Amino acid sequence: MNHEDLYQKSIDIIIKNQNLTGAYVACPTFPTYNYSWFRDGSYIAYAMDLVGEYDSSAQFHSWAVDNINKRETQIRLLIKGNLNNYEEVLHTRYHLDGDAGIDYWENFQLDGFGVWLWSLYEHIHLSGRKLTNEMEKAIELVSGYLSMLWQEPCYDCWEENRNEKHIYTISCIYGGLKASDLLLGSNSFSGIVRKIKNLILKEGVINGSLCKYLGNGEVDSSLLGVHFPNNVLTTRDPIMRKTVKRIQSELYKAGGIHRYTADTYYGGGIWILLTAWLGIWLVDDGKPKEAKEILDWILSRADTEGQLAEQYDDSLNDPSYLPVWIEKWGASAKPLLWSHAMYIILYRKLNPDR
Ligand code: BGC
Repeated sequence: MNHEDLYQKSIDIIIKNQNLTGAYVACPTFPTYNYSWFRDGSYIAYAMDLVGEYDSSAQFHSWAVDNINKRETQIRLLIKGNLNNYEEVLHTRYHLDGDAGIDYWENFQLDGFGVWLWSLYEHIHLSGRKLTNEMEKAIELVSGYLSMLWQEPCYDCWEENRNEKHIYTISCIYGGLKASDLLLGSNSFSGIVRKIKNLILKEGVINGSLCKYLGNGEVDSSLLGVHFPNNVLTTRDPIMRKTVKRIQSELYKAGGIHRYTADTYYGGGIWILLTAWLGIWLVDDGKPKEAKEILDWILSRADTEGQLAEQYDDSLNDPSYLPVWIEKWGASAKPLLWSHAMYIILYRKLNPDR
């Protein structure tokens, strides 16, 4: 298998696992991931826009728009400040038909909605398609929701640490509200966007590098998101540079990167999507050779059918947890559509004229 094969395979896997409703299943073979997440789906739709599969991304966005708009009453109450019960918030993942489901999950996560606004902006921009009235309504609802709740602690993108304010999450709200203003041609959120950036710079930095969450000096690979896609800080920013240096020195092992040092999910292995994310940074930072090495490493992890898993055990933070998770949920999710999407994004960054 070469990169061309894996690139094509990745597109096929994503298309094949898009439900007729437009939802992308996070992983078709892993029962716990038989849902569609706003977070995963938004990156996957962006990858589809990059490769010109506009119908696929359009269907995902239409699924997302319908799901948001049918919850209009609930969202309007939340925007008015009626947050009595955290079960009333928008869930982070949905059944493929858009049902919120009744199973317990760490539902209150805000990052996916910010990333969705960014992904929709990219969709309109890259596909040249028109914004519909329904889309406008959903954008207005989601950005109202985010601008009301942006200071609330919530679960992070790893669905952990419920009571904290996470820098990645906050950066997604920043990116999302900026995208909302661009999409609607308005200037409604510039004040909040400025406040978010100030908060990140004032309270989200310890010893010159970004924190995992406010008051916690650990580094987390999701902090790469402060640069791409959220563009709060650029590759030239010293805080961003120091953060990525830490990610490289503390979390980069055996060719790929961990989520964070204390991670024990499946033993805390190395993640394809995060490794690709580092590659994206390296391209933007003018280091295509290093990024290509990362792309090659990802290729080396693909199985004979071109499938990429969520994580690999080449390096584990705590091997004693691996059997515990395998016993609970089976082997690491494969194929994980988000892993394939991030591979595609990095591949296209390295081969823009393809
Ligand atoms: C990850 C989430 C992801 C979900 C589905 C979880 O293990 O922590 O970030 O959205 O899997 O891929």
